[in-house]
Amino acid sequence: MNSFIFRTTTWVLGLFLALAGPALAQSDATAPPKQSTATAPGTAPAAAGGGGDQAGIAAGDALFKANCTQCHAVNEKVVGPALGGISKRRSISWIIPWIHNSAKVIASGDDYAVKLYNDNGKQQMPAFPQLSDTDIKNIVAWIGSQEGGATAATAGATVQNAGAADGQAASGDAGAAAGGYTDILLIVLVVVLIVLVVTLAIIANLMKDVLQGRKDLDGRDVETLNQRFDWSGLYRSPVLRGIVGVVFALVLLYEGVQSVMAVGLTQGYQPTQPIAFSHKIHAGENNINCAYCHTSVYKGKSANIPSANICMNCHSQIKTESPEIKKIYRAIERKQPIQWVRVHNLPDLAYFNHSQHTVVGNIQCQTCHGPIQNMEVVYQYSALTMGWCINCHRETPLNTKGNAYYDALVKLHDKSNSAVPFTVSSNGGTECAKCHY
Ligand code: HEC
Ligand code: HEC
Ligand code: HEC
Ligand code: HEC
Ligand code: HEC
Ligand code: HEC
Repeated sequence: MNSFIFRTTTWVLGLFLALAGPALAQSDATAPPKQSTATAPGTAPAAAGGGGDQAGIAAGDALFKANCTQCHAVNEKVVGPALGGISKRRSISWIIPWIHNSAKVIASGDDYAVKLYNDNGKQQMPAFPQLSDTDIKNIVAWIGSQEGGATAATAGATVQNAGAADGQAASGDAGAAAGGYTDILLIVLVVVLIVLVVTLAIIANLMKDVLQGRKDLDGRDVETLNQRFDWSGLYRSPVLRGIVGVVFALVLLYEGVQSVMAVGLTQGYQPTQPIAFSHKIHAGENNINCAYCHTSVYKGKSANIPSANICMNCHSQIKTESPEIKKIYRAIERKQPIQWVRVHNLPDLAYFNHSQHTVVGNIQCQTCHGPIQNMEVVYQYSALTMGWCINCHRETPLNTKGNAYYDALVKLHDKSNSAVPFTVSSNGGTECAKCHY
């Protein structure tokens, strides 16, 4: 009998180690490399170049913005190549004649210049004879100060945004790595628990076998030994039935109320658009003003969606070979508007005016539309329910300073209840007819 117990125990232990061992080893092996890739993109490299003549760099910054930004950026290709690292790529004695008159350098048969010209679709960079040698050196110094990225003091918004995006991607990666790690831990735990339960069941059965073999047990011991768990008693228990019933009813009620309240709600709606237009690239990384495209948002009731012509202001030059951009050309050739799918849509019974909120109320787009500048694809951020409008009107104080129109009203309000600020709703912003016509 003893040898039987011994054999069973070693077998169970062996099974346990065989199952749990590799799982534990795996979790050790996979976690660290994932974490190291997660931290890498987040750490911004220190500013390279930099230092030196601050006044010269500032002058270079201004010259670059005035003459070069429409075609060049430091870290990305726009019309011309990215200029980061130019002082390492080319000597200043090449750069100066190039900027003064690039066509002359190409015509002279300079190998690098000819290749550059051909690689950029034979686009001629304009000549800048008006720039002095010092001007050009200042521009190059400014470019050098920008190469480090987000840490440079004068870093442009573009670079900063790119850095922020990197940081976000990094934290996302870290989240994914942590997720994978807990998944493995969970699997290991489940396996360990299953093995434990099996082990305990086997041990309990063995004990029973051993005890049943003995003759010196009295009646009560035998009864305990043969006792079985009474499932039907549990099932008949009124307390348990009551608890299960109440929990079930509550869940049903909660789900019911939730689904009724969600009728007609489209929060989070994110349709696929006909062109993969990204607000992250345009409003985020390239910092294009919202009103450059949504031209009427500060002037009128609706914020219009830009026509294809506005896209062409840039895309007649930028990314002309991209299949997504070719869709814009096709729409223009066919004289058909791009069929964007509408995301936000109040029912016709409600009146909402953009200029009233963005100009008079001075509310940021992001308060209502969320972090649009980070969205690859736009989604409906706010609920757009009546309660959402009303809550904000109750909470937001009106900016009445320097507006004589409000003086008498504010005086009246303060006379009756000066403890409460003069909000949109104090001005009648919760009256039905303000929003319903
Ligand atoms: C209208 C667009 C345009 C403007 C404005 C422009 N460039 Fe260029 N640049 C180009 C193009 C295109 C090239 C690629 C060569 C070619 O096709 O001629 C280029 C190439 C260069 C190069 C060589 C890059 C390399 O990788 O070797 C430098 C340096 C340069 N530009 C500097 C400047 C500076 C400085 C200014 C502002 C004073 C400027 N560019 C303004 C279009 C432009
Ligand atoms: C380069 C042009 C451009 C810029 C800049 C731009 N948008 Fe847009 N926006 C569009 C286009 C095109 C659409 C329609 C396609 C889509 O929904 O993605 C759109 C759609 C939207 C929508 C959804 C409209 C709907 O259908 O309900 C909102 C909200 C919006 N933009 C807000 C903003 C805000 C806020 C900014 C500034 C942070 C901004 N946009 C900057 C071009 C632009
Ligand atoms: C003020 C300039 C500007 C305007 C206006 C503009 N874009 Fe862009 N667009 C850019 C820049 C810059 C990029 C980034 C190019 C890159 O990645 O090198 C870009 C990239 C894109 C891309 C990604 C292309 C690819 O293949 O990576 C699409 C799609 C696009 N734009 C569509 C549009 C549409 C549609 C409009 C009009 C509603 C528009 N853009 C208006 C500047 C502009
Ligand atoms: C007080 C909240 C609020 C603010 C602030 C706001 N919007 Fe809107 N926006 C809305 C609502 C509500 C709609 C839906 C309007 C409708 O369906 O009539 C909307 C719709 C849009 C649309 C779709 C076209 C339209 O007019 O229906 C665009 C584009 C848009 N907003 C852009 C912007 C931009 C850009 C800004 C910032 C300059 C901005 N919004 C600020 C609430 C807001
Ligand atoms: C983030 C806060 C906010 C949200 C959300 C908001 N509003 Fe407003 N609303 C304001 C402010 C602030 C004003 C006051 C502007 C001013 O100074 O006249 C205002 C004014 C108004 C007015 C004019 C009121 C008057 O007294 O003339 C109307 C109409 C209105 N909002 C409708 C809406 C509707 C409809 C919605 C929902 C779809 C909405 N608002 C959502 C902040 C908000
Ligand atoms: C600040 C603006 C605002 C005010 C003030 C306001 N509403 Fe609304 N109301 C809305 C908006 C926006 C909707 C649409 C919401 C939706 O689709 O979920 C709405 C929807 C409704 C609906 C639902 C219609 C339907 O078919 O679903 C009724 C009914 C309604 N409002 C009645 C009123 C009454 C009565 C008052 C005055 C006590 C009032 N509202 C004041 C903005 C307002």
